[in-house]
Amino acid sequence: MSSEIQERSDIDQIPVAARPATTPPPRPQTWVLKLIMAVTGSVFVLFILFHLAGNLKVYLPDDPQGHFNEYAHWLRTLLNPLLPGSTFLWIFRATLVACLCLHVYSGLTLWIRAHRLRGRHARKVHATKHHLTGRTMLWSGLIILSFIVFHLLDLTIGRGVESKDFSTKAVYKLEGGEVVTDAYSNLVHSFQRPEVAIFYVVVMVVIAFHLSHGLWSVINDFGGTAPRTRTVFLFLADLVALIVVIGNASIPLAVLAGGISV
Ligand code: HEM
Repeated sequence: MSSEIQERSDIDQIPVAARPATTPPPRPQTWVLKLIMAVTGSVFVLFILFHLAGNLKVYLPDDPQGHFNEYAHWLRTLLNPLLPGSTFLWIFRATLVACLCLHVYSGLTLWIRAHRLRGRHARKVHATKHHLTGRTMLWSGLIILSFIVFHLLDLTIGRGVESKDFSTKAVYKLEGGEVVTDAYSNLVHSFQRPEVAIFYVVVMVVIAFHLSHGLWSVINDFGGTAPRTRTVFLFLADLVALIVVIGNASIPLAVLAGGISV
C-alpha cells in the first residue's frame, strides 16, 4: 500500500468531527464578492442609462440648452422641499461612491484570487469574444476609473475646462429667472477640443465591452443556464452596451461635427 493510501485510510479511522479542519474559505467568501460585484454593477448600469437619458436632451430640437440645464437643475433640487437644497444629489453621489469603492475592492480581490489559483500553468482556451473581454476586465475597469476622475474634473468641478481657457463660470438663466450653471455650454466647450472628444468616444467603447462582459458574468454566476433565458439575457447585455456606446459617443462626435453648438 502506498503511503498516500495509508494516510487516507488513517484519516478514515478518525471520527468526522475530530478530523483536522480543511483550509478555511478565504474571507470575504468568493460568492459574497461576486454578489457585491453584481449588485453594485447593476446600480452603475441603471445610473449610466439614467445619465444617458439626460445627456440625450442635447438632441431636443427646440431649445436643447434650456432643456439640458433645466434637467441638471432638476437633478440638484430633486425631492425639494422634502429634502432641502441638493441633499438628494449628495445622497445619490454618496451611494455611487460607496458602490464604486465596493466594486473596485471586490473586483481586485477576485482578480488576485483567480490569478493565484490559476498559477503558472493556466489552461489554454480559445480566444472567444467573452474570453478576451474577460481577460481585460481589470484594465478596462482602471480606464473607466481614470475616465470618471477626468470627467468630474472636466464637467462637474470644471478644472479640465478651465485649464484650456474655456469659461467654467458660464451661467444660465432658467425660465423662472433662477441663475444656474450652464452645464450645456460647458459640455459643448469641452467636446470642441478634438482630443477630449476622441477620448470620450474611446472610453465609451471600453465601457461597452466592460458592461457587456459584466452582465454576461452576472448571468453565469447566478445560474442563468437555461438556454432560452441565457440567450435572452446575453442579447440584452449586448443591447444595453450598444445603446450606451452609440448614445453617448454620438454626443462628442456631434459637437466635433458642429451639429451641437452653443
Ligand atoms: C459622452 C458621454 C457623457 C456625457 C456627455 C456626460 C455629461 C455629463 C455632464 C454634462 C455632467 C455634469 C452635470 C452637471 O453639472 O449638472 C456629468 C456628470 C457626471 N457624469 Fe457624465 N457624461 C457622459 C458619460 C458618463 C459616463 C459613462 C459616466 C459613468 C461611468 C458618467 C458619470 C458621471 C458622474 C458620476 C457625474 C457627476 C454627477 C454629479 O454628481 O453631479 N458620465 N456628465
